[in-house]
Amino acid sequence: MPAVEIKPGVYWIGVNDRTTDLFEGLWPITKEGVSYNSYFVDDEKKVLIDLTKSFKVDEFLNQISQITDIARIDYIVINHMEPDHSGVLSTMRKIAPNVTLVGCKKTKDMLASFLGITENIRVIQDGETLPLGKRELQFFVTPFVHWPETIMTYELSDKILFSCDAFGGYGALRGAIFDDECTDFDFYERESLRYYVNIVAKYSAPVLKATDRLTDVPVDIIAPSHGLIWRKNPQIIVQLYKTWAGYAGGKTEPGVTLVYGSMYGNTEAMMNAVAQGISSVGVPVDIFDAARTHSSYILPSLWTKRGVMIGAPTYETKLFPPVAQILEMAVQKRVLNKKVAVFGSYGWSKGAEKHLEEIIAPLEWEMVDLFQFNGRPTQEDLKKGETFGVNFATLVKTE
Ligand SMILES: Cc1cc2nc3c(=O)[nH]c(=O)nc-3n(C[C@H](O)[C@H](O)[C@H](O)COP(=O)(O)O)c2cc1C
Ligand SMILES: [Fe+2]
Ligand SMILES: [Fe+2]
Repeated sequence: MPAVEIKPGVYWIGVNDRTTDLFEGLWPITKEGVSYNSYFVDDEKKVLIDLTKSFKVDEFLNQISQITDIARIDYIVINHMEPDHSGVLSTMRKIAPNVTLVGCKKTKDMLASFLGITENIRVIQDGETLPLGKRELQFFVTPFVHWPETIMTYELSDKILFSCDAFGGYGALRGAIFDDECTDFDFYERESLRYYVNIVAKYSAPVLKATDRLTDVPVDIIAPSHGLIWRKNPQIIVQLYKTWAGYAGGKTEPGVTLVYGSMYGNTEAMMNAVAQGISSVGVPVDIFDAARTHSSYILPSLWTKRGVMIGAPTYETKLFPPVAQILEMAVQKRVLNKKVAVFGSYGWSKGAEKHLEEIIAPLEWEMVDLFQFNGRPTQEDLKKGETFGVNFATLVKTE
């Protein structure tokens, strides 16, 4: 894609990634893709804000060359050192050896440790400005949105916030790069939530701190480093991020995430009865087979819904491993404030429930119910399972 002018002299330059299977080597994006958005400000001083992953480098360089001589670029602002934004930095410095890199104190440390760069670095403080000629940039230090060195950059004339990972999402750009041109908003909302929970959610407190910091900053355009640029209504994505960040400590949605696994169908049979019970109360339920669904797709439901229903058989005295893995990831991502109920089949000595309690102990979820049964569930067991689902859903609905 060629560069796109956002405002006179301010350009989006970006690379759409539709071939990487795992973002951060972990999160599946095979079907959805991702974009690495970079921005160029063409003034008396010429500035690149964020770069891209070291991927389709020729395409990236050609986009810049259409607008300016790369060797003449004065500044590269490093909002974030993660290689999805800094991967092409060493190459850029070879082409523009005199370029000054702009970041905070921690950026300077990381430039040395990740890339061996120790010169031509301008360290900025929170709120500091950088005159470019007609335009001026201001920097906000926003640690842990997503790494400790993360900053955001603000252009004062057109009120553009270059927010880096914040307000971004998975999803390669599907033609439209602006919110007002976008015809598949549901896709971007879903993929922004998945991205938020996979990548940023653990740092929800810093996200809320950053959004508070920006309350008095008039923003007309939000230009993140992944996904759509928000110029029609930037408040949509700000509000979504605030709501998602708020779930870490506040009210979540009245719904149930049902994560189950089953080797020979006994726990699965019970899962259907439990789900019937939950649905009969009119509470939404997302059902995931833990062995067949990557945690990337389960975490958004776990994050947003109030109730967690776990179905897993005992496996070698422990919880069925695929279910254990999902819960371990929930612990890693600090999925807090949940009510949980557990069911599952065992053959002889049980053990799943104890293991589960050990895994989720750090999250302090409220364990409200447990239902274990021996072998294949009887009709009577299934009836109990349905009631078990009804009781849990009623509790989740009324809280
Ligand atoms: C590999 C394997 C390991 C098992 N380990 C245990 C165990 O340690 N303790 C136990 O009570 N049952 C154990 N079981 C029995 C299962 O928990 C039991 O068969 C259960 O009904 C399986 O439910 P499912 O059909 O939903 O997978 C094991 C079964 C398998 C296949
Ligand atoms: Fe990041
Ligand atoms: Fe990123």
